[in-house]
Amino acid sequence: MKLTVIGTGYLGATHAICMAVMGYDVVGVDVDPEKIDRLNSGEVPFFEPGLPELLTKALESGRLRFTTSFEEAAAFGDVHFICVGTPQKPGSEAADLTYVDSAVDSLAVHLRRRALVVGKSTVPVGTAARLAKRVRELAPAGDDIELAWNPEFLREGFAVDDTMKPDRMVFGVTSAWAEEQLRAAFRPVLAQGVPVKVTDLQTAELVKVAANSFLATKISYINAMAEICEVTGADVHDLAEALAYDERIGGKFLRPGLGFGGGCLPKDIRAFAHRAEELGVGQAVGFLREIDGINRRRRARTVDLVVELCDGDVSGKRIAALGAAFKPNSDDIRDAPALDVAATLRTMGADVVVFDPAAMDNARRVHPELEYGTSALDAARGADVVVLLTEWNEFREIEPPAMAAVVTQPKIVDGRHALDPVRWRAAGWEYRALGRP
Ligand code: UDX
Repeated sequence: MKLTVIGTGYLGATHAICMAVMGYDVVGVDVDPEKIDRLNSGEVPFFEPGLPELLTKALESGRLRFTTSFEEAAAFGDVHFICVGTPQKPGSEAADLTYVDSAVDSLAVHLRRRALVVGKSTVPVGTAARLAKRVRELAPAGDDIELAWNPEFLREGFAVDDTMKPDRMVFGVTSAWAEEQLRAAFRPVLAQGVPVKVTDLQTAELVKVAANSFLATKISYINAMAEICEVTGADVHDLAEALAYDERIGGKFLRPGLGFGGGCLPKDIRAFAHRAEELGVGQAVGFLREIDGINRRRRARTVDLVVELCDGDVSGKRIAALGAAFKPNSDDIRDAPALDVAATLRTMGADVVVFDPAAMDNARRVHPELEYGTSALDAARGADVVVLLTEWNEFREIEPPAMAAVVTQPKIVDGRHALDPVRWRAAGWEYRALGRP
């Protein structure tokens, strides 16, 4: 079985590489020739642990190549995966489906034999049914082309593991043939006993947004508790730990702090709320706007803590911002809480020096007004306040006395509850964290 993967971003590149490593012949397609050249020469255009090694292996096997030609891909593949982005539409909460529509159109016009087109991108419910119709209308092979939906749940930083051995697979299909194709396309994955849920197109689309909404809700729930802790002197860290012992609640996605960001959670909950309103059931997920609101307040409150430590005014103060990526083990700065906080402090007149182990180039491109250090200690040199914004391991390992030796004042805001307050306070630091006394 020959596979193509349309879109070579975080999702598509990972999928293409992993499928080739698992033994399939794969062609990856992108409209960006520079990306294609980099991938063909063995370079992964973003930071993802383990992926560069697998790309080398896949290219050496001869089973993987990348192209900008949809015609070549259409002639090659039996199953075509659509893995392009669905960002938030500028000036709206809705998902921007431009890339999905254009990927499907560009492919469909060249489909001359029986094939399955499989959507993996996160889309508003109802998109798959619309695309199924469109692909048949455009393809020379007409009704021989079917469409299925197979949402992807991979987390950046764990993308390889999540692709090779996901928690579950969801196949949204309209025929037994489409299900057979998907089972064949994922044989090595399913052979490991990964559970698969076969369902209709619209349920498959919904599983993805429902999962991300649930995760966002869990994070904002504990962060709402942090707001209560802040006015009562309670400790949200202890509260979260105590809740986590209840198996019905569990500790995952219950880490309080600066909240969620990235290319998925924030825009997915907004697009879901927007889509539900279009469908006349906005009330059902109206709470997602509250979830978004709680999440945004965490960023504002983190800025407030820095201002407090600067005695009410940050202008002219030097702030070291540790972290720029939306989470550790990623260079992704899309809707990154860390950069949001750093940029806001800069707007308020502070001199902000940022350091991130992986996201420096991306951060510099979007925020040239910020200064950039060469290490955490370098960024902290002369700082009036240090603020930890992304919980990279190397920040957890900082020796409090070593950092105290380079700052102007030993004051730290731990935006991610990543540090041990006892150790930092023992080394003379004024330590503050959201929701902790
Ligand atoms: C997410 C989903 O987990 C994944 O299933 C989906 O396919 C894409 O979106 P990702 O965006 O890679 O994946 O990041 P994730 O690890 O889920 O973290 C999202 C955000 O939540 C990060 O900013 C993280 O810092 C934050 N987070 C996570 C918390 O603030 N607290 C937590 O307890 C967990």
